[in-house]
Amino acid sequence: MLEKARQLFMNSFGCAEGVRYFFAPGRVNLLGEHTDYNGGRVMPCALDLGIYGAFAPRTDGTIGLASADFESGKAFRFRTAELPEDLGGTWTAYALGSWLSLRDRLQDEPEGQTETAENGRRVEAALSALNGGFDMAIASDLPSGAGLSSSAALEVLTVTALCGLFGIELSKKDIALTSQRAENVYAKVPCGIMDQFASANGIRDHALYLDTSSLEFEAIPLELGDAEIVLTDSRVKHSLGSSEYPKRHRECEESAVLIKREMERLGEEPVPSLCSLSSADFDRFSCCIKDPGTRRRARHAVRDNERCGLGAEALKRGDLKTFGELISASHVSLRDDFEVSCPELDLLAETAWSVPGVYGSRITGGGFGGCTVSIVKEENVDEFIKSVGEAYKAKIGYAADFYVVEVGDGPRVLE
Ligand code: GLA
Repeated sequence: MLEKARQLFMNSFGCAEGVRYFFAPGRVNLLGEHTDYNGGRVMPCALDLGIYGAFAPRTDGTIGLASADFESGKAFRFRTAELPEDLGGTWTAYALGSWLSLRDRLQDEPEGQTETAENGRRVEAALSALNGGFDMAIASDLPSGAGLSSSAALEVLTVTALCGLFGIELSKKDIALTSQRAENVYAKVPCGIMDQFASANGIRDHALYLDTSSLEFEAIPLELGDAEIVLTDSRVKHSLGSSEYPKRHRECEESAVLIKREMERLGEEPVPSLCSLSSADFDRFSCCIKDPGTRRRARHAVRDNERCGLGAEALKRGDLKTFGELISASHVSLRDDFEVSCPELDLLAETAWSVPGVYGSRITGGGFGGCTVSIVKEENVDEFIKSVGEAYKAKIGYAADFYVVEVGDGPRVLE
């Protein structure tokens, strides 16, 4: 992949001085889905699969972009001073949005940090270098639109590489926040922090048990013993920009407002977010959410948040059986309460449940297509791929893709 990115860079932008190479991973989420924009917990892991990029700075105020995976490697050039208001919904929007988001961040550098003259000069120099532009050629072994956060990987890659090229220091947390902002503000997807955080903070062989309300996380060793993580791509392309993700987000926000109001009415201290509620408390207050669909969405968020907590405990004590049951229960809740599944994903998960050696299986990521994640005993992986693969082909009419994945580290410079 690195060689592919290097070749594309040479073909698109010529032999530039100072080309540097970077990588950022995609992610799989094991538990806690649609909880990250409700102040809840999630448990993603960075993958060994991701996006490789060749980058070089420019000084003429333009940005050159080429991807080996889109539009046959066609190169695009943009003037930094004339970027369109609407960046559109294609891959270039994520790269340009990341550049814009990093620039905004430097421009809005919190007061305290620019207090000293030296800091002020440092920020000025970084901004002027950033405005000079850059060239970027990428190649990916992460399937795009498969719910494995290819867009977050692209944002984290771009922000990490620009920091590397222009000597900008950002913590991993700030790389994640800058990348999330690129997606929220410039790609106009109201996603939570999970994907960008997982890509920016990945730790090999660890799950990141993240509290999205504080951004504190615990790295839990992924001791799966004789089991593997298998991803099955339904090849139904999902797009978070579609109206359903924002709609779920809104429904959860409405529920949180109603519940807080109800708690106040009953003289109780209102909770800061939906996922601060226990299931028991949710059941006490949820009658104030009159629309049954909206109530079910909120119930999913509260319960998946709880499942994520229970899953973390199960994983820590090596109880794969309970961990797997929680994963499968999460699918049922995403299917019935949150309604973000589709017949293809249901078929994949439901077939998986009946294969020997499967601890659990569910949708991973936003839903409406993309992948399922399954925890499968190593000795049953071949049988799993055969059984689920055949059932899928027979019913859906085309093959699903399978990936037995490794959990890897976050973004890095490749020398
Ligand atoms: C997408 C979003 C995340 C999260 C998941 C659902 O991946 O980018 O922020 O909301 O969906 O858990």
